[in-house]
Amino acid sequence: MDNVLNQDLKNYIENITSPEPPLLKNLRQETEAVIGAPQMLCGPTEGRLLQILIKVLQAKNCLEIGTFTGYSALNIAEALPADGKLITCEIRQQNAEFAQKYFDRSPFGHKIEIRLGDATQTIQQIDHPFDFIFIDADKPNYPTYYDLLIPKLRRGGLMVVDNALWDGEVVAPKDKAGEAIHALNLKARHDESVETVMLSVRDGILLIRKL
Ligand SMILES: C[S@@+](CC[C@H](N)C(=O)[O-])C[C@H]1O[C@@H](n2cnc3c(N)ncnc32)[C@H](O)[C@@H]1O
Repeated sequence: MDNVLNQDLKNYIENITSPEPPLLKNLRQETEAVIGAPQMLCGPTEGRLLQILIKVLQAKNCLEIGTFTGYSALNIAEALPADGKLITCEIRQQNAEFAQKYFDRSPFGHKIEIRLGDATQTIQQIDHPFDFIFIDADKPNYPTYYDLLIPKLRRGGLMVVDNALWDGEVVAPKDKAGEAIHALNLKARHDESVETVMLSVRDGILLIRKL
């Protein structure tokens, strides 16, 4: 968890992690200047973790819930093979337009399709099985995303849930978001169709592999 690490250790972690591609650095800086809330981006370390997971899994069909300005989507797209595809769901048009501008500038952007709208609706219009699913949108809907998406994850596929420790509050949730994240964590842990591991990277990342 980020807030228990001192700045020297955070710098060390970033320095040992493979460097952030220049376009993603621009995206992060422009997000901060134009849109705000740069803490919503998964950041360079988690971005690289997503890339390595996708490469190890040899994932081709990916789904993301929560595009924001496209930072995690571009990390995912970079790790995909030439015929790989990412569908990313975003409810805010301004975010989708910002992200699309960067997808158009990236050599990997053609692999990404943005679906604008409420992801709880969008998901129900998508049928094909996914190799890799990244959940990083509205926290109160986390248990709903789990229920809707586990059937759409192929056997051996991976679901990655961001903010799974919610700044440490999952042990004693104080709000709807914390309660919902904790509910998803428990759902996954007690679901016999999956295996789980909680990583204390950044704000917590739950890895869920379908058996
Ligand atoms: C934490 S940000 C995503 C950050 C992004 N994954 C990254 O790391 O670069 C969450 C995003 O989910 C979007 N969002 C919230 N509720 C949503 C919903 N019901 N359907 C689709 N997107 C939603 C928000 O507008 C926001 O852009």
